[in-house]
Amino acid sequence: MKLSQRALKMEPSATLAVVGKAKKLKAEGKPVISFGAGEPDFDSPPSALAYAKEAMDKGETHYTIATGIPKLKELVVNYYSNRFNVTAKPEQVIVGAGAKPLIYEALACLVDPQDEVLVFSPAWVSYVEQIKLCGGKEIIVDTSDTNFIPSIEKVTNSITDKTVGMILNTPNNPTGAVYDEKTIKELAKLAKEKDIWIIYDEIYERLVYKDAKHHCILSLVPEIEDRTILINGVSKAFAMTGWRIGYAIAPTWLAPKMGAFQGHLTSNPCSIAQWAAVGALEKAEKDVEKMHKAFSERRKLIVNMLRDMPHISFDAPTGAFYVFADIKKTLGKKHEGNLIDSDITFCTQLLEKKYVAAVPGTAFLAPGYVRLGYANSVEEITEGMNRLKSFLEEIN
Ligand SMILES: Cc1ncc(COP(=O)(O)O)c(C=O)c1O
Repeated sequence: MKLSQRALKMEPSATLAVVGKAKKLKAEGKPVISFGAGEPDFDSPPSALAYAKEAMDKGETHYTIATGIPKLKELVVNYYSNRFNVTAKPEQVIVGAGAKPLIYEALACLVDPQDEVLVFSPAWVSYVEQIKLCGGKEIIVDTSDTNFIPSIEKVTNSITDKTVGMILNTPNNPTGAVYDEKTIKELAKLAKEKDIWIIYDEIYERLVYKDAKHHCILSLVPEIEDRTILINGVSKAFAMTGWRIGYAIAPTWLAPKMGAFQGHLTSNPCSIAQWAAVGALEKAEKDVEKMHKAFSERRKLIVNMLRDMPHISFDAPTGAFYVFADIKKTLGKKHEGNLIDSDITFCTQLLEKKYVAAVPGTAFLAPGYVRLGYANSVEEITEGMNRLKSFLEEIN
Protein backbone atom coordinates (compact mmCIF):
# COMPACT_ATOMS: atom_id res chain seq x y z
CA MET A 1 0.00 0.00 0.00
CA LYS A 2 1.18 3.53 -0.58
CA LEU A 3 0.26 7.12 0.05
CA SER A 4 -0.47 9.28 -2.98
CA GLN A 5 2.07 11.84 -4.16
CA ARG A 6 -0.54 14.44 -3.20
CA ALA A 7 -0.64 13.27 0.42
CA LEU A 8 3.14 12.93 0.58
CA LYS A 9 3.65 16.52 -0.56
CA MET A 10 1.19 18.00 1.93
CA GLU A 11 2.42 19.70 5.13
CA PRO A 12 0.18 19.83 8.22
CA SER A 13 -0.98 23.26 9.35
CA ALA A 14 1.86 24.78 11.37
CA THR A 15 -0.42 27.24 13.15
CA LEU A 16 -2.55 24.39 14.43
CA ALA A 17 0.62 22.57 15.58
CA VAL A 18 1.67 25.47 17.88
CA VAL A 19 -1.83 25.96 19.21
CA GLY A 20 -1.98 22.20 19.88
CA LYS A 21 1.28 22.23 21.86
CA ALA A 22 0.12 25.25 23.88
CA LYS A 23 -3.19 23.52 24.63
CA LYS A 24 -1.37 20.39 25.79
CA LEU A 25 0.77 22.42 28.23
CA LYS A 26 -2.33 24.24 29.45
CA ALA A 27 -4.08 20.90 30.06
CA GLU A 28 -1.07 19.91 32.17
CA GLY A 29 -1.82 22.92 34.36
CA LYS A 30 0.85 25.28 32.99
CA PRO A 31 -0.07 28.99 32.95
CA VAL A 32 0.02 29.29 29.17
CA ILE A 33 -0.85 32.52 27.39
CA SER A 34 -1.39 31.87 23.72
CA PHE A 35 -0.83 34.46 21.02
CA GLY A 36 -1.06 31.60 18.56
CA ALA A 37 -4.73 31.44 17.72
CA GLY A 38 -6.20 32.79 14.53
CA GLU A 39 -9.65 33.43 15.89
CA PRO A 40 -11.49 36.00 18.00
CA ASP A 41 -11.91 35.06 21.65
CA PHE A 42 -15.42 36.57 21.85
CA ASP A 43 -18.66 34.59 21.97
CA SER A 44 -20.65 34.37 18.75
CA PRO A 45 -23.37 37.05 18.57
CA PRO A 46 -26.64 36.33 20.44
CA SER A 47 -28.61 36.70 17.20
CA ALA A 48 -26.57 33.88 15.61
CA LEU A 49 -27.32 31.61 18.57
CA ALA A 50 -31.02 32.52 18.55
CA TYR A 51 -31.41 31.86 14.82
CA ALA A 52 -29.59 28.53 15.15
CA LYS A 53 -31.88 27.43 17.98
CA GLU A 54 -34.93 28.49 16.04
CA ALA A 55 -33.68 26.62 12.97
CA MET A 56 -33.35 23.43 15.02
CA ASP A 57 -36.82 23.87 16.54
CA LYS A 58 -38.29 24.43 13.09
CA GLY A 59 -36.66 21.29 11.72
CA GLU A 60 -34.13 23.00 9.46
CA THR A 61 -31.98 19.94 9.86
CA HIS A 62 -32.00 18.47 6.37
CA TYR A 63 -29.92 18.92 3.23
CA THR A 64 -30.18 22.40 1.80
CA ILE A 65 -29.28 23.52 -1.71
CA ALA A 66 -25.61 22.50 -1.98
CA THR A 67 -24.43 26.11 -2.45
CA GLY A 68 -26.45 27.51 0.45
CA ILE A 69 -29.94 28.64 1.45
CA PRO A 70 -31.47 31.44 -0.67
CA LYS A 71 -31.96 33.69 2.38
CA LEU A 72 -28.25 33.70 3.21
CA LYS A 73 -27.24 34.28 -0.42
CA GLU A 74 -29.63 37.22 -0.57
CA LEU A 75 -28.07 38.69 2.58
CA VAL A 76 -24.56 38.28 1.16
CA VAL A 77 -25.63 40.06 -2.03
CA ASN A 78 -27.16 42.88 0.04
CA TYR A 79 -24.08 43.09 2.26
CA TYR A 80 -21.80 43.56 -0.74
CA SER A 81 -24.13 46.06 -2.30
CA ASN A 82 -24.50 48.17 0.88
CA ARG A 83 -20.94 47.93 2.10
CA PHE A 84 -18.94 47.95 -1.11
CA ASN A 85 -21.35 49.03 -3.82
CA VAL A 86 -20.59 45.73 -5.53
CA THR A 87 -23.41 44.19 -7.53
CA ALA A 88 -23.75 40.41 -7.65
CA LYS A 89 -26.54 37.97 -8.39
CA PRO A 90 -27.50 35.32 -5.81
CA GLU A 91 -26.42 32.60 -8.26
CA GLN A 92 -22.86 33.97 -8.06
CA VAL A 93 -22.77 33.28 -4.31
CA ILE A 94 -21.48 29.96 -2.97
CA VAL A 95 -21.87 29.39 0.75
CA GLY A 96 -19.32 26.88 2.01
CA ALA A 97 -18.07 25.31 5.22
CA GLY A 98 -15.80 28.26 5.94
CA ALA A 99 -13.73 30.43 3.62
CA LYS A 100 -11.02 27.77 3.46
CA PRO A 101 -12.86 25.14 1.38
CA LEU A 102 -14.17 27.86 -0.94
CA ILE A 103 -10.62 28.89 -1.80
CA TYR A 104 -9.84 25.25 -2.50
CA GLU A 105 -12.95 24.84 -4.66
CA ALA A 106 -12.00 27.92 -6.68
CA LEU A 107 -8.45 26.62 -7.16
CA ALA A 108 -9.72 23.15 -8.06
CA CYS A 109 -11.85 24.71 -10.80
CA LEU A 110 -9.09 27.03 -12.06
CA VAL A 111 -5.74 25.26 -11.75
CA ASP A 112 -4.39 22.48 -13.97
CA PRO A 113 -1.15 20.61 -13.27
CA GLN A 114 1.90 22.84 -13.84
CA ASP A 115 -0.16 26.04 -13.83
CA GLU A 116 1.50 28.79 -11.81
CA VAL A 117 -0.29 30.81 -9.14
CA LEU A 118 1.24 33.87 -7.48
CA VAL A 119 1.22 33.92 -3.69
CA PHE A 120 2.52 36.90 -1.74
CA SER A 121 4.72 36.02 1.20
CA PRO A 122 4.45 36.14 4.17
CA ALA A 123 1.34 34.16 3.36
CA TRP A 124 -1.45 32.31 5.10
CA VAL A 125 -0.45 28.67 5.36
CA SER A 126 -3.20 27.01 3.35
CA TYR A 127 -2.79 28.83 0.01
CA VAL A 128 0.36 26.97 -0.94
CA GLU A 129 -0.89 23.58 0.23
CA GLN A 130 -4.15 24.02 -1.65
CA ILE A 131 -2.37 25.02 -4.87
CA LYS A 132 -0.18 21.93 -4.51
CA LEU A 133 -3.25 19.75 -3.90
CA CYS A 134 -4.55 20.95 -7.27
CA GLY A 135 -1.26 20.01 -8.95
CA GLY A 136 -0.35 23.66 -9.49
CA LYS A 137 2.88 25.45 -8.71
CA GLU A 138 3.03 28.31 -6.23
CA ILE A 139 5.22 31.24 -7.26
CA ILE A 140 6.19 33.13 -4.14
CA VAL A 141 6.48 36.90 -4.40
CA ASP A 142 8.15 38.28 -1.28
CA THR A 143 6.72 41.48 0.21
CA SER A 144 8.91 41.71 3.30
CA ASP A 145 11.13 44.49 1.97
CA THR A 146 8.16 46.63 0.84
CA ASN A 147 6.27 46.87 4.14
CA PHE A 148 4.35 43.70 3.27
CA ILE A 149 2.64 45.39 0.33
CA PRO A 150 3.31 43.73 -3.06
CA SER A 151 5.70 45.58 -5.35
CA ILE A 152 4.11 45.82 -8.80
CA GLU A 153 7.50 45.49 -10.43
CA LYS A 154 8.20 42.22 -8.61
CA VAL A 155 4.73 40.89 -9.39
CA THR A 156 5.12 41.77 -13.09
CA ASN A 157 8.49 40.04 -13.20
CA SER A 158 7.02 36.90 -11.60
CA ILE A 159 4.39 36.42 -14.28
CA THR A 160 5.23 33.85 -16.97
CA ASP A 161 3.21 32.25 -19.75
CA LYS A 162 2.26 29.56 -17.21
CA THR A 163 0.73 32.02 -14.72
CA VAL A 164 -3.02 31.59 -14.40
CA GLY A 165 -3.85 33.67 -11.34
CA MET A 166 -2.89 35.33 -8.07
CA ILE A 167 -4.19 35.15 -4.52
CA LEU A 168 -4.46 38.45 -2.68
CA ASN A 169 -5.20 38.72 1.03
CA THR A 170 -6.00 42.04 2.60
CA PRO A 171 -6.15 42.76 5.51
CA ASN A 172 -3.38 40.25 5.66
CA ASN A 173 -2.74 37.21 7.78
CA PRO A 174 -0.03 37.06 9.14
CA THR A 175 1.29 40.61 8.62
CA GLY A 176 -1.72 42.76 9.51
CA ALA A 177 -0.96 44.89 6.44
CA VAL A 178 -3.86 46.55 4.62
CA TYR A 179 -3.30 47.03 0.88
CA ASP A 180 -3.67 50.61 -0.34
CA GLU A 181 -5.97 51.70 -3.13
CA LYS A 182 -3.18 52.35 -5.63
CA THR A 183 -1.63 48.89 -5.20
CA ILE A 184 -4.98 47.14 -5.53
CA LYS A 185 -5.81 49.10 -8.70
CA GLU A 186 -2.41 48.31 -10.20
CA LEU A 187 -2.75 44.61 -9.40
CA ALA A 188 -6.20 44.60 -11.00
CA LYS A 189 -4.84 46.32 -14.09
CA LEU A 190 -2.01 43.80 -14.30
CA ALA A 191 -4.43 40.87 -14.00
CA LYS A 192 -6.42 42.29 -16.89
CA GLU A 193 -3.36 42.91 -19.06
CA LYS A 194 -1.97 39.41 -18.43
CA ASP A 195 -5.38 37.75 -18.61
CA ILE A 196 -5.17 36.06 -15.20
CA TRP A 197 -7.69 35.71 -12.36
CA ILE A 198 -7.59 37.04 -8.79
CA ILE A 199 -8.76 35.25 -5.68
CA TYR A 200 -9.40 38.15 -3.32
CA ASP A 201 -9.47 36.91 0.27
CA GLU A 202 -10.99 39.67 2.37
CA ILE A 203 -12.01 37.55 5.36
CA TYR A 204 -10.57 40.22 7.74
CA GLU A 205 -12.24 43.19 6.00
CA ARG A 206 -14.11 44.31 9.13
CA LEU A 207 -10.89 44.53 11.12
CA VAL A 208 -9.01 47.66 10.11
CA TYR A 209 -7.76 50.33 12.49
CA LYS A 210 -6.74 53.95 12.69
CA ASP A 211 -6.81 55.62 9.27
CA ALA A 212 -6.58 52.39 7.29
CA LYS A 213 -9.44 51.62 4.94
CA HIS A 214 -10.26 48.28 3.42
CA HIS A 215 -11.09 48.28 -0.29
CA CYS A 216 -12.97 45.51 -1.99
CA ILE A 217 -11.17 45.14 -5.31
CA LEU A 218 -14.47 45.14 -7.21
CA SER A 219 -15.55 48.48 -5.76
CA LEU A 220 -12.31 49.99 -7.06
CA VAL A 221 -12.19 48.15 -10.39
CA PRO A 222 -15.63 46.73 -11.26
CA GLU A 223 -14.54 45.79 -14.77
CA ILE A 224 -12.48 42.85 -13.49
CA GLU A 225 -15.62 41.19 -12.14
CA ASP A 226 -15.33 38.37 -14.70
CA ARG A 227 -11.87 37.38 -13.40
CA THR A 228 -12.33 37.90 -9.64
CA ILE A 229 -13.41 35.55 -6.87
CA LEU A 230 -14.23 37.34 -3.63
CA ILE A 231 -13.77 35.32 -0.45
CA ASN A 232 -15.40 36.30 2.84
CA GLY A 233 -17.37 34.79 5.72
CA VAL A 234 -18.57 35.08 9.28
CA SER A 235 -15.56 33.44 10.96
CA LYS A 236 -13.45 36.47 11.87
CA ALA A 237 -15.79 39.50 11.88
CA PHE A 238 -18.58 37.75 13.77
CA ALA A 239 -16.46 35.48 15.99
CA MET A 240 -18.04 32.42 14.40
CA THR A 241 -15.06 30.25 13.47
CA GLY A 242 -16.59 27.02 14.75
CA TRP A 243 -19.82 27.35 12.78
CA ARG A 244 -17.88 26.96 9.53
CA ILE A 245 -19.67 29.38 7.23
CA GLY A 246 -17.88 31.28 4.49
CA TYR A 247 -19.06 32.74 1.19
CA ALA A 248 -17.55 33.32 -2.21
CA ILE A 249 -18.78 35.56 -4.99
CA ALA A 250 -17.57 34.16 -8.29
CA PRO A 251 -18.09 35.14 -11.93
CA THR A 252 -21.11 33.54 -13.62
CA TRP A 253 -18.87 31.24 -15.73
CA LEU A 254 -17.20 29.86 -12.59
CA ALA A 255 -19.83 29.84 -9.81
CA PRO A 256 -21.81 26.82 -11.13
CA LYS A 257 -18.61 24.79 -11.42
CA MET A 258 -17.57 25.67 -7.86
CA GLY A 259 -21.09 24.77 -6.77
CA ALA A 260 -20.92 21.42 -8.56
CA PHE A 261 -17.52 20.76 -7.00
CA GLN A 262 -18.91 21.49 -3.54
CA GLY A 263 -21.93 19.33 -4.32
CA HIS A 264 -19.66 16.34 -4.85
CA LEU A 265 -17.37 17.15 -1.95
CA THR A 266 -19.41 18.22 1.10
CA SER A 267 -22.91 19.01 -0.17
CA ASN A 268 -24.28 21.98 1.75
CA PRO A 269 -22.56 23.50 4.77
CA CYS A 270 -24.42 22.76 8.03
CA SER A 271 -28.04 23.92 7.70
CA ILE A 272 -28.19 25.20 11.29
CA ALA A 273 -24.94 27.13 10.92
CA GLN A 274 -26.28 28.75 7.76
CA TRP A 275 -29.24 30.06 9.75
CA ALA A 276 -26.85 31.26 12.45
CA ALA A 277 -25.04 33.23 9.73
CA VAL A 278 -28.39 34.71 8.65
CA GLY A 279 -28.86 35.87 12.25
CA ALA A 280 -25.36 37.37 12.23
CA LEU A 281 -25.77 39.24 8.95
CA GLU A 282 -29.24 40.47 9.84
CA LYS A 283 -28.77 41.52 13.44
CA ALA A 284 -25.18 41.47 14.71
CA GLU A 285 -23.82 44.75 13.39
CA LYS A 286 -23.57 46.19 16.91
CA ASP A 287 -21.67 43.11 18.12
CA VAL A 288 -19.20 43.48 15.25
CA GLU A 289 -18.64 47.12 16.20
CA LYS A 290 -18.11 46.19 19.86
CA MET A 291 -15.55 43.53 18.96
CA HIS A 292 -13.82 45.92 16.59
CA LYS A 293 -13.49 48.48 19.38
CA ALA A 294 -11.97 45.87 21.71
CA PHE A 295 -9.51 44.73 19.02
CA SER A 296 -8.56 48.31 18.38
CA GLU A 297 -7.68 48.85 22.06
CA ARG A 298 -5.79 45.56 22.25
CA ARG A 299 -3.86 46.46 19.13
CA LYS A 300 -2.78 49.73 20.70
CA LEU A 301 -1.72 47.97 23.89
CA ILE A 302 0.32 45.20 22.23
CA VAL A 303 2.01 47.60 19.80
CA ASN A 304 2.97 49.96 22.64
CA MET A 305 4.34 47.14 24.77
CA LEU A 306 6.29 45.60 21.87
CA ARG A 307 7.90 48.98 21.07
CA ASP A 308 9.64 48.76 24.41
CA MET A 309 11.39 45.44 23.78
CA PRO A 310 14.95 44.65 22.74
CA HIS A 311 15.96 42.58 19.67
CA ILE A 312 12.67 42.84 17.79
CA SER A 313 11.23 45.20 15.20
CA PHE A 314 7.91 45.41 13.41
CA ASP A 315 5.66 47.53 11.23
CA ALA A 316 2.64 48.53 13.30
CA PRO A 317 -0.21 46.56 11.70
CA THR A 318 -3.42 48.31 10.66
CA GLY A 319 -5.56 45.24 10.00
CA ALA A 320 -6.64 41.76 11.17
CA PHE A 321 -5.50 40.87 14.72
CA TYR A 322 -1.84 40.03 14.28
CA VAL A 323 1.54 41.65 14.80
CA PHE A 324 4.30 40.16 12.64
CA ALA A 325 7.56 40.82 14.43
CA ASP A 326 11.07 40.47 13.01
CA ILE A 327 13.20 38.48 15.48
CA LYS A 328 16.27 38.02 13.23
CA LYS A 329 18.45 39.94 15.71
CA THR A 330 18.03 37.11 18.23
CA LEU A 331 19.34 34.47 15.82
CA GLY A 332 22.74 33.08 16.80
CA LYS A 333 22.23 34.33 20.38
CA LYS A 334 21.32 32.26 23.42
CA HIS A 335 18.55 32.11 26.03
CA GLU A 336 19.71 30.48 29.27
CA GLY A 337 22.54 28.85 27.32
CA ASN A 338 20.25 27.47 24.60
CA LEU A 339 21.02 28.56 21.05
CA ILE A 340 18.27 30.33 19.12
CA ASP A 341 19.00 29.38 15.54
CA SER A 342 15.60 29.96 13.96
CA ASP A 343 12.15 31.42 14.54
CA ILE A 344 11.07 27.86 15.37
CA THR A 345 13.55 27.47 18.24
CA PHE A 346 12.64 31.02 19.35
CA CYS A 347 8.97 30.02 19.63
CA THR A 348 9.73 26.65 21.22
CA GLN A 349 11.91 28.21 23.91
CA LEU A 350 9.44 31.02 24.51
CA LEU A 351 6.68 28.46 25.05
CA GLU A 352 8.74 26.11 27.19
CA LYS A 353 10.40 28.78 29.35
CA LYS A 354 7.73 31.47 29.63
CA TYR A 355 4.57 29.60 28.62
CA VAL A 356 3.90 32.11 25.88
CA ALA A 357 2.76 30.74 22.52
CA ALA A 358 3.51 32.48 19.22
CA VAL A 359 3.62 31.11 15.68
CA PRO A 360 6.99 30.91 13.86
CA GLY A 361 7.17 32.95 10.65
CA THR A 362 8.39 29.83 8.83
CA ALA A 363 4.76 28.68 8.90
CA PHE A 364 4.00 31.66 6.67
CA LEU A 365 7.03 31.30 4.37
CA ALA A 366 8.79 33.99 6.38
CA PRO A 367 11.63 32.62 8.53
CA GLY A 368 13.00 35.08 11.06
CA TYR A 369 9.60 36.40 12.13
CA VAL A 370 6.96 35.45 14.69
CA ARG A 371 3.23 36.07 14.52
CA LEU A 372 1.55 37.33 17.67
CA GLY A 373 -2.25 37.20 17.51
CA TYR A 374 -3.94 39.61 19.92
CA ALA A 375 -7.30 37.91 20.26
CA ASN A 376 -6.77 37.92 24.02
CA SER A 377 -8.02 39.93 26.98
CA VAL A 378 -6.15 43.09 28.00
CA GLU A 379 -4.95 41.26 31.13
CA GLU A 380 -3.58 38.36 29.10
CA ILE A 381 -1.89 40.65 26.60
CA THR A 382 -0.27 42.62 29.42
CA GLU A 383 0.97 39.51 31.24
CA GLY A 384 2.05 37.76 28.01
CA MET A 385 3.97 40.80 26.77
CA ASN A 386 5.70 41.19 30.13
CA ARG A 387 6.85 37.58 29.86
CA LEU A 388 7.99 38.09 26.25
CA LYS A 389 9.93 41.16 27.34
CA SER A 390 11.73 39.27 30.10
CA PHE A 391 12.49 36.43 27.61
CA LEU A 392 14.01 38.92 25.17
CA GLU A 393 15.98 40.66 27.92
CA GLU A 394 17.48 37.31 28.93
CA ILE A 395 18.79 36.67 25.41
CA ASN A 396 22.48 37.37 24.91
C1 LIG B 1 -6.34 34.71 5.36
C2 LIG B 1 -7.34 33.68 5.75
N1 LIG B 1 -8.19 33.23 4.81
C3 LIG B 1 -9.12 32.30 5.10
C4 LIG B 1 -9.22 31.77 6.37
C5 LIG B 1 -10.21 30.68 6.62
O1 LIG B 1 -11.36 31.10 7.24
P1 LIG B 1 -12.48 30.07 7.66
O2 LIG B 1 -12.28 29.76 9.10
O3 LIG B 1 -13.78 30.79 7.39
O4 LIG B 1 -12.36 28.86 6.82
C6 LIG B 1 -8.36 32.20 7.37
C7 LIG B 1 -8.43 31.61 8.72
O5 LIG B 1 -7.51 31.62 9.49
C8 LIG B 1 -7.40 33.18 7.05
O6 LIG B 1 -6.56 33.64 7.99
